[in-house]
Amino acid sequence: MKKKWWHDKVAYQIYPKSFLDTNGDGIGDLRGVISKLDYLKELGIDIIWLSPIYKSPFVDQGYDIADYYKIAEEFGTMEEFDELLAEAKKRDMYIVMDLVVNHCSDQHEYFKKALANPDGEYAEYFYFVKGKGKKAPSNYRSYFGGSAWEPVPGSDKYYLHMFAKEQPDLNWENPKLRRKVYDMINWWLDKGLGGFRIDAIINIKKDVKFPSFPADGPDGLASCVKMVEEVEGVGTFLEEMKHETFEKYDAFTVGEVFNMKEDELREFIGEDGHFSTMFDFSAHELTFGEHGWYDSKPIVFKEWRDIVFASQLEMEGIGFKANIIENHDEPRGASRYLPAHAQNEAGKKMLATTSVLLRGIPFVFQGQEIGMTNCLREDISEYDDISTIDQYQVAIEAGCTKEEALHCCYENSRDNARTPMQWSDGENAGFTTGKPWLALNPNYTEINVKEQENRADSVLSYYKKLIALRKSDSYKETFTYGKFVPAYEEQDDIFAFRRVHEENGQDILVVANFGQEPCTLTVEGKVHTVLLSNMNREQAVFAEAEMNGSVTLESCECAVILMG
Ligand code: GLC
Ligand code: CA
Repeated sequence: MKKKWWHDKVAYQIYPKSFLDTNGDGIGDLRGVISKLDYLKELGIDIIWLSPIYKSPFVDQGYDIADYYKIAEEFGTMEEFDELLAEAKKRDMYIVMDLVVNHCSDQHEYFKKALANPDGEYAEYFYFVKGKGKKAPSNYRSYFGGSAWEPVPGSDKYYLHMFAKEQPDLNWENPKLRRKVYDMINWWLDKGLGGFRIDAIINIKKDVKFPSFPADGPDGLASCVKMVEEVEGVGTFLEEMKHETFEKYDAFTVGEVFNMKEDELREFIGEDGHFSTMFDFSAHELTFGEHGWYDSKPIVFKEWRDIVFASQLEMEGIGFKANIIENHDEPRGASRYLPAHAQNEAGKKMLATTSVLLRGIPFVFQGQEIGMTNCLREDISEYDDISTIDQYQVAIEAGCTKEEALHCCYENSRDNARTPMQWSDGENAGFTTGKPWLALNPNYTEINVKEQENRADSVLSYYKKLIALRKSDSYKETFTYGKFVPAYEEQDDIFAFRRVHEENGQDILVVANFGQEPCTLTVEGKVHTVLLSNMNREQAVFAEAEMNGSVTLESCECAVILMG
């Protein structure tokens, strides 16, 4: 496999609005990001992905872009962005931006021009399609609920929006539009960006016949994802985009890819794939409800472990996936993947270990490194997220009580990850001196950076050790290129695997007990060194264990052991 500069890097996602506010307007900003670069460097981060910071009306929190060449005033100025790039560079860090090109904002000048002349040139930048009689061209439900078609005022046409109606889809079939997109990408790469995280990208290919599908909900609509799943040919666009842009810069790209067709992994992330990497969402998909959040399924430990393993094995010999336990669209990993008895610091460290040491590119989402959790709200009015408000309504319409509907938001809402970063136990968690744009999780008095920074056994201190181990000169090769080999699969509560490097001979066992009871395991092979333990297990204990031929792991205990 050809080595690439990003193979051994660790990435961190910043949700700028909630990271750190430095001017008291309650909104995180670029100055805040700049001021925390040293914090991130110390954590061991190489690549920083910023969720969108472009000019936007923020209907979908910046994933609705009104001007791709401007920084949102809320976040700062282009000068500050350039400063961020320069400061990151000084520290050998890379900035990755969010590339949102399936759609733009209805406030984008292209869309305004399109509305002004629904038969003109700019209408061709979007999907302006004649209705069927008095009805929309097809029965698609948008991802955020309701029809994916919106009437174009003063015309018999409708425009397509797979997300909110304020996010019209861009017409990738139009070569002029594609050229504009590529020019924009290159403009940013010329500034010295490390690359892009690529939003909702699978959706760019449409079946322009827009066939209807059998209804899949009481609203008589069918999810627009059905069309995405059936249409062929997204790869042609992705290859063109890569050749016209990323490839020339050796940029790092990470795709947000759902609904990839079977057997296409090599095309997406193989050596000459469309992207450098793509997120592994296989665990996340386990909880998907058939109709929405109200019928989402809880995580069952074994199913979760098995799907992570399957995904790891699938990419072997093909490429690298990007491993996450949470992001700005997901509930907090600690709340989701840890059983109740493990929702504590030991459990959070264990979860960190089993994610960061997998094969692939580890991504840490802001606050994950201190073990931030989901946030309880008492009323739907306390939520901001457009999708949460829709899903609450879907739950109520399906017959849930208010309490039940709120509970499904507690478990699934995207706002769980978007509450402000908890820097200290001071006013507003040190996030802002003003009124935070989204209410804090009240547990900031216990869970915060300041408390953890100087405590040797904190979750934060553990993350630092864990990332340092992954990147250490001695073990980096193995953690980056070593094979993933499942271990102790017959055990019901154990998440264990080995990272084996055939050339350097290293064999590292990562083992974690997610069960509520201690678990005794047979030691296979010789223990050489305990590289990391979340319970300060000493070398001697394992050495003794080896003599006895078995070792007992406490509930929530994990260890990283060099064998041989
Ligand atoms: C992606 C983003 C999400 C956004 C959607 C539409 O899934 O991660 O936050 O709402 O695309 O842009
Ligand atoms: Ca601010």
